[in-house]
Amino acid sequence: MARLLLPMPGNEAMANAIAARTGDAVGVLEHRRFPDNESYVRVLTDVKGREVELIATLANPDEKLVGLCLAADAARGAGAARVRLIAPYLPYLRQDARFNQGEALAAQTFASLVSSVFDGLITVDPHLHRIQRLGDVYAIPSAALTASDEIGAWIGKRVATPLIVGPDEESLQWAERVAAAAGAPYTTLRKTRLGDREVRLEAVGDLKQSLGRQPVLVDDIVSSGTTLSSAARFLRAAGFAKPHCVVVHAVFAEGALRRLEAETASVASTDTILHPTNEISVAGVLAAGMGGG
Ligand code: R5P
Repeated sequence: MARLLLPMPGNEAMANAIAARTGDAVGVLEHRRFPDNESYVRVLTDVKGREVELIATLANPDEKLVGLCLAADAARGAGAARVRLIAPYLPYLRQDARFNQGEALAAQTFASLVSSVFDGLITVDPHLHRIQRLGDVYAIPSAALTASDEIGAWIGKRVATPLIVGPDEESLQWAERVAAAAGAPYTTLRKTRLGDREVRLEAVGDLKQSLGRQPVLVDDIVSSGTTLSSAARFLRAAGFAKPHCVVVHAVFAEGALRRLEAETASVASTDTILHPTNEISVAGVLAAGMGGG
């Protein structure tokens, strides 16, 4: 069955990069706002009987969610045989419990919404921690791909004698695999979050034995930059050189990149979210995960 890649606005470069590997056609979708700011969505390419892969990275998800649901409906209404969401960055995986009385279960609620309009989901390095598998919250077939091998290979080519450092225990899954691909040792720190922009860090293993190596901080998400900036200061205080930073998802809140650059030797990211720090492409990972690369 013919497949069609359908990018939401802003995802055309990723769709084209995937298509260059899979040979799939790339369709066109119109998405504009009515004067009252409601979304208008129309699929302009013939999708009848085709498997539609809707490409939509979902940083700033609140402003994208309605258009996304309408796009899925538009494709289905125009006769698509299947509508799958390809979200290089999948949000709403961190607020997965009611940590305080009265809070919303954001991860579960977002997953229910997405599961109600799509037939399947593919993403890259979702923040799976307390939620161990996407299938724990998503009711549709889902796949979590990883950019760790690409990141590790990228570091291996650019940094001499690296030490891969995950800034918290949750990052062990990335640090371990990135280190294997880079041919380097790894360690993690232990993080206690004291607030949105305040964390406390401590070493887990013996850092002294790695002094002299070039630290490379690796994490899945950078948002306020607090975690990585604090980890960079922690490593400097422990006697290391300024670390390089590599993240999968360059979420970057206002001012975060500037603050992080002041503490680190360099900052790089994958292109799951378009950002000036993008250095590593996940198009090949997605093409292979979609079953066509
Ligand atoms: C959570 O633990 C994630 O892996 C990241 O470390 C975290 O989301 C980064 O957030 P921020 O940049 O705001 O510290």
